[in-house]
Amino acid sequence: MKKIICKDAVLAAQAAADVFESQINEKPESVLGLATGSTPIGLYNELASRCSAGKIDFSKARTFNLDEYYPIKAEHRQSYSAFMDKHLFSKVNFASTHLLSGEALDPYEECARYDAEIEFAGGIDLQLLGIGRNGHIGFNEPAVSYSMGSYLVDLTEGTLKANSRFFDDDETQPTQALTMGIGPIFKARKILLLITGEDKADITKKLFGGVLHTDVPACFLLLHPNVTVILDEAAAARMK
Ligand code: PGA
Repeated sequence: MKKIICKDAVLAAQAAADVFESQINEKPESVLGLATGSTPIGLYNELASRCSAGKIDFSKARTFNLDEYYPIKAEHRQSYSAFMDKHLFSKVNFASTHLLSGEALDPYEECARYDAEIEFAGGIDLQLLGIGRNGHIGFNEPAVSYSMGSYLVDLTEGTLKANSRFFDDDETQPTQALTMGIGPIFKARKILLLITGEDKADITKKLFGGVLHTDVPACFLLLHPNVTVILDEAAAARMK
């Protein structure tokens, strides 16, 4: 596992964009796994500006997002579909983009369809991940056992509280989500974990404390052969 500690979140976003740039230069038709949340916004801005400066060409790349609230309409301003359109897809020309659908009538069929689509694309070349304060990756919340394939998950109180800041008082926040399971994430050939902000310092300390906590889903990454972790100093502050 390679760790890169950057002074702040802006430099961390640039270092993460370098990883994407190398990936696309090496393999223009890469399959990219993408994430939502506050953490990747700086990275997506950086990718969009490198793209418009002609430094990266994503036109042969395909993307698969980690998760989506359930149920939610794609056009809802808090859907991850709308998030991706706003922060990246409206600015960067990918060959194709894929998300789990929060509008699917049968969530289980939708998950099976999505997993098959990822398989058919040849699996993920580079998977971007953030981390929740409870150690979740995607919406794989801490549990006793984990689904390999994509599944419908009940979000934890902590996750609902952390994400409630995005929803207005008159908006209903979904309490469930569809998420890529641990299987396709772990099968990604390369993983980039981006961690910024002092509110992630405790979980970062736990993640890198030398113990594989089974109730910290991100700990599975400790066993993956090709993970780069990019942190800012605030997130790394309590790490040994
Ligand atoms: P955040 O979310 O980037 O908004 O902190 C990360 C996550 O929950 O995976």
